[in-house]
Amino acid sequence: MNDVARRIIRSAERIVSFSGAGLSAESGVPTFRDPQTGGLWKDFDPTRLASPQGFAADPDLVTEWYAWRRRTIAEAQPNPAHTALAARGDITHVTQNVDDLLRRAGAQHVIELHGTIARDRCHAACGHEEAVDLADPPGLRACPACGDHLRPDVVWFGETLPAEAWEAAERACVSCEAMLVVGTSAAVYPAAGLIALCKSAGAKIIIVNTQPSEASDLADVELLGKAGEIVPELLQERH
Ligand code: APR
Repeated sequence: MNDVARRIIRSAERIVSFSGAGLSAESGVPTFRDPQTGGLWKDFDPTRLASPQGFAADPDLVTEWYAWRRRTIAEAQPNPAHTALAARGDITHVTQNVDDLLRRAGAQHVIELHGTIARDRCHAACGHEEAVDLADPPGLRACPACGDHLRPDVVWFGETLPAEAWEAAERACVSCEAMLVVGTSAAVYPAAGLIALCKSAGAKIIIVNTQPSEASDLADVELLGKAGEIVPELLQERH
């Protein structure tokens, strides 16, 4: 294990973890853009499946695709990286992931920048939202409050991030001393911009990823390898 990375974690009072799909890859949840495995966006068109335009054009197709993702996540279990992160109640977890694996691992302070797949909301944003059973995902249905469609409470391409989550993430990032970046290509903004925000606020950046990413040049320490192997070792000292 890299001693510099350990020292950074040990000496930091306030730590933020910033995670992406690579955190859940070892749990069997596909990533989006993975040079090794290809990722979902190699086989599926995000503009058709993860955008308001795609939903307007074919709401059944989008609903079926999310039903498949929900069942995949229901069958998945948190891996050792989720468990190690969740065990650190002193870390604020900012995630791009819409799966519930960090929460299922017991994590308390989780900021979901891109929403959650475990909930549906009214597409017209009338305010209605409801939890869904990931193992038995619902088909397309109408909002009981206003009659528009219900859709997954996730952020689609071209949509803005939930303001409350974004502001909480910014607050955590400008006041932390270390950011542990886990399993992200850092290719999607505004989320990826939080890494540079932390850096400019003086925090040390540790990256754990199987491949160099678009944030590699911001890293004080870059650990290339699997999150499930590296993160537990990195975080094991202090509870
Ligand atoms: N351990 C660590 N890193 C891994 C692992 C692993 N086991 N497996 C894959 N990775 C790395 C890949 O090399 C890749 O760099 O994780 C990264 C995953 O990148 P993406 O698939 O682009 O996922 P992410 O960065 O979360 O995507 C950002 O894009 O599609 C949208 O809204 C979606 O939140 C998502 C956003």
